[in-house]
Amino acid sequence: MNSKERMKYPEDFLNKFICGNAVDVMKQIPDGSIELVVTSPPYNLKNSTGNGMKDGRGGKWSNAALINGYSHYNDNMPHDEYVEWQRECLAEMLRIIPENGAIFYNHKWRVQAGLLQDRNDIVSGFPVRQIIIWRRKGGINFNPGYFLPTYEVIYLIAKPNFKLAKKANAHGDIWEFGQESKNKHPAPFPVELIERIILSTDADVVLDPFMGSGTTALAAKNLDRQFIGIDISPEYCEMAEERLANPMSVIKQITTNKKEKQANLFD
Ligand SMILES: C[S@@+](CC[C@H](N)C(=O)[O-])C[C@H]1O[C@@H](n2cnc3c(N)ncnc32)[C@H](O)[C@@H]1O
Repeated sequence: MNSKERMKYPEDFLNKFICGNAVDVMKQIPDGSIELVVTSPPYNLKNSTGNGMKDGRGGKWSNAALINGYSHYNDNMPHDEYVEWQRECLAEMLRIIPENGAIFYNHKWRVQAGLLQDRNDIVSGFPVRQIIIWRRKGGINFNPGYFLPTYEVIYLIAKPNFKLAKKANAHGDIWEFGQESKNKHPAPFPVELIERIILSTDADVVLDPFMGSGTTALAAKNLDRQFIGIDISPEYCEMAEERLANPMSVIKQITTNKKEKQANLFD
């Protein structure tokens, strides 16, 4: 599906991967129509104060999956522009969810110029109800000035009538799931993480405006829910389609025994 055509909601959206720009496509979805959004945007990792990944050679990050970036997006915006863009995306997501809806927005805090860059500049003013810590497996720590970073954050941004599904609150707010390392996409979610989120709600439809390899769609399908997936990259949209038909299709061949590094957190 290509977003350039004028699309009708819901028939052109439900259970479809739409190749296009997240904001433009979301603008075609009516107010209050989707109860759940789960997403992980690009983290702007190539914009960096140090020598991190930005020069394209990667240095110490040469073995990180994201060193080559995404297929159709270079993840390197001036910081202020990036924040403005992400706030625009969040505003669209918030418009789309009804009064009992929620957004699970995954992000990573980084250290830039020696100082912690939390993502408050992106989420401030939005109704953040809780921060879930997604504890990943430990990585490699190159920097003697920092403890090894092992988590990402998931902001639960909810409208007033949002309630968790029965018993979901028993999970607590620290979730442990190892990162997905066998997927051909450079920054995929683990399926189990998205299944946990979807099962924590009673939503029938879940939207992911940065769908990548289609993990949110696969989790929705596994749980008999519906999905809407958007990604700017035709390559990833195709990958997601194939994955839904055959979940093993995204598994990459490991041709090296070098350990893949997590994308950079401090520089
Ligand atoms: C962190 S990845 C998402 C990975 C996904 N959660 C998964 O499990 O595979 C971010 C995605 O955003 C996409 N992207 C970048 N800019 C975009 C835009 N303006 N609109 C829609 N998608 C975009 C990239 O192509 C990339 O696949």
